[in-house]
Amino acid sequence: MSEHEHGAARRPAITRDSYDELYRSAAAVWTGRPNGQLVAEASDLVPGTALDAGAGEGGDALWLASRGWRVTAVDFSPVALERGAAKAAELGLADRIDWRHEDLDTWTPPARAFDLVTAHYLHAAWTDRAAMFRGLAAAVAPGGTLLVVGHQHGEQWGHGHASAHEAGALFTAEDVAAVLDPAEWAGIVTETRDRDPDAAHRTGNPVPDTVLVGRRR
Ligand SMILES: C[S@@+](CC[C@H](N)C(=O)[O-])C[C@H]1O[C@@H](n2cnc3c(N)ncnc32)[C@H](O)[C@@H]1O
Repeated sequence: MSEHEHGAARRPAITRDSYDELYRSAAAVWTGRPNGQLVAEASDLVPGTALDAGAGEGGDALWLASRGWRVTAVDFSPVALERGAAKAAELGLADRIDWRHEDLDTWTPPARAFDLVTAHYLHAAWTDRAAMFRGLAAAVAPGGTLLVVGHQHGEQWGHGHASAHEAGALFTAEDVAAVLDPAEWAGIVTETRDRDPDAAHRTGNPVPDTVLVGRRR
């Protein structure tokens, strides 16, 4: 699961400019394992083309590629992308993943191009999230799947992990659903789900996930 190894330890709010610094702060910032909601949603899908938006060090992209997907892994941190690419080469998956250095604030993915568009913990206070999610949704091919996962809001979860996400950085699955045109989707599910217990244990972050799953008509 892709969470910070330092778990609940307080850390400064992440900003647009500090991601590279965060990645340089440790040999591996995330665990390298695929996120639980991705495994839950994609395990039974027929492998095709996937876009991993905010791919970080590539735990999800590598997992998808290992299952036969052709993945476009997008992030604006060159440090994270280089790590992902090195791991892909090590695992013999280099030809299955296109690591793209793009800013999702300004880069628009090709429309209707991917059988799966997945975004995990793409928390950003600085971004026009509605525009970003609209662009990601538009990139889902007919019959394809949109999966957007974030940390649930909530004072009850304490401030250990939340300190990483300054006010305004978090979103709900309903926020994402609000930018989708229901006529274009065969199904849209928004849910709060328990976090992968293993990841919760290892990272010290028990905050549930807010999850949107959409299937394009
Ligand atoms: C919390 S990390 C999660 C990484 C990965 N999805 C995972 O679960 O391991 C969020 C990632 O989104 C990237 N990111 C945030 N805003 C971005 C943007 N506007 N364009 C591209 N990447 C962005 C960051 O660089 C970071 O790698």
